[in-house]
Amino acid sequence: GPSRAAPADGAQFVVVANRLPVDKEILPDGTVNWKRSPGGLVTALEPILRANTGAWVGWSGIPDSDDNPPDIEGIDIHAVPLSTQEIAEYYEGFSNATLWPLYHDVIVKPEYHREWWNTYVEVNRRFAEAASKAAGDGAVVWVQDYQLQLVPKMLRMLRPDVKIGFFLHIPFPPVELFMQMPWRTEIVEGLLGADLIGFHLPGGAQNFLFLARRLAGQATSKGTVGVRSRFGVVQVGFRTVRVGAFPISIDSGELAALSKTKKIRDRAAEIRKELGNPKTIMLGVDRLDYTKGIDVRLKAISELLAEKRLDPSETVMIQLATPSRERVESYIQMRAGIEQLVGNINGNHSSTVSRPVVQYLHRPVPRDELIAFFVAADVMLVTPLRDGMNLVAKEYVACRSDLGGALVLSEFTGAAAELRSAYQANPYDLDGVKDAIEAAVTQSEHEGRRRMRALRRQVLAHDVEKWARSFLGTLGENSETELEPNRG
Ligand code: ADP
Ligand code: F6P
Repeated sequence: GPSRAAPADGAQFVVVANRLPVDKEILPDGTVNWKRSPGGLVTALEPILRANTGAWVGWSGIPDSDDNPPDIEGIDIHAVPLSTQEIAEYYEGFSNATLWPLYHDVIVKPEYHREWWNTYVEVNRRFAEAASKAAGDGAVVWVQDYQLQLVPKMLRMLRPDVKIGFFLHIPFPPVELFMQMPWRTEIVEGLLGADLIGFHLPGGAQNFLFLARRLAGQATSKGTVGVRSRFGVVQVGFRTVRVGAFPISIDSGELAALSKTKKIRDRAAEIRKELGNPKTIMLGVDRLDYTKGIDVRLKAISELLAEKRLDPSETVMIQLATPSRERVESYIQMRAGIEQLVGNINGNHSSTVSRPVVQYLHRPVPRDELIAFFVAADVMLVTPLRDGMNLVAKEYVACRSDLGGALVLSEFTGAAAELRSAYQANPYDLDGVKDAIEAAVTQSEHEGRRRMRALRRQVLAHDVEKWARSFLGTLGENSETELEPNRG
């Protein structure tokens, strides 16, 4: 097809993501409010774009809306409109009832519908066109996440002059699971339109290299992929595509600084007081998603209370849950299950009516308030059945400059590869989770400080700026890695 000319006023750096950093909200009185979008992708990318002027192409979170939010600090916003039907088929359907469960170990059964796929293709084309309009001559375009896996190839056809990076924010599944996907070849070929494809972990990068050989018949490197090193390569015609592992992170320095302010420390003390000065505050912070294992931690706590290994008169568990994907059936069912568990625990174990063991909020909490909760929590519970990274675990560590607190962490998060000094457990092994929680609750101060010091070294040294720099630095290099020919 005819390649489109670069717009004269195009940006040199363009992020393309399903969501804009802000969500449009229409209040009951009809006025418009823009609020921070949910999820780790926005948490990670927002500081990067604030520091490097560029454009952000994405959807505003409500149907049929193409208006832009009022300027956000140097970010040039390009809203991509989605109709009600596109939201149902591309976002709730193919992205979140097909790809999301398939890429998260099929915790829920993925649904495969041809109409959803067709809409996914159409909407990916719209994002590619919007990116093409936003990007200046020779720009760097960084495409994000599983909702937009076809955009790299589509954008390359429109704009062969731009450099294209792609980063997957969720796990890339084992080959045996990926092979279920009826449109598996199209997805692999869509991704191969990029110059650099990034995953959180070497394992995901290696799964992808295998599939590029098997499904797209391309020659690939065969050696193991390192973390921010030893990149894999795929030869696609005359182009060389690089594949690497770039574990994402947070703005650790900023969080650490905020957590030390008097305002936050006072608020943390006030939270403990409001809860009746319990000995142990346990905390969970998640989007309300079945991958997060909120049920796992609630069941573990329920059994620990029943066995009198936790005392309900000195323990409070706070679960902060951001509403998420509320029209997708599996999310509706999971929410009901979680709320039933909360009710069960409080009904069976609360010591008095004024002191429920579990405090549950189904709403996002403002950033400063969240930091105060991290500072107040003695034990942070992060128990996903599968998670690409989990930024919450890193945020908790960044907020504990006092070296207090303990992190219970599922082995099946990307973060577990880096946060070795956490109390790690297999979320499918309930006894193991209970033991980890008990160990965290009863740790000595000395042991707690030793572990938190090690965790902080990791999180402060590897922040989100380092993540972006290593990805974009690699995208900017020319690859000279040797290729092994494809023999099957
Ligand atoms: P995901 O991207 O799957 O939502 P992450 O743990 O990587 O999971 O990122 C979640 C982000 O959303 C973090 O920055 C976290 O602080 C924020 N967040 C999660 N739950 C809440 C909540 N209840 N209130 C406010 N922020 C939240
Ligand atoms: O990081 C994973 C992710 O799915 C992002 O792509 C997404 O924006 C975020 O979590 C929150 O989910 P959603 O955009 O569906 O509300």
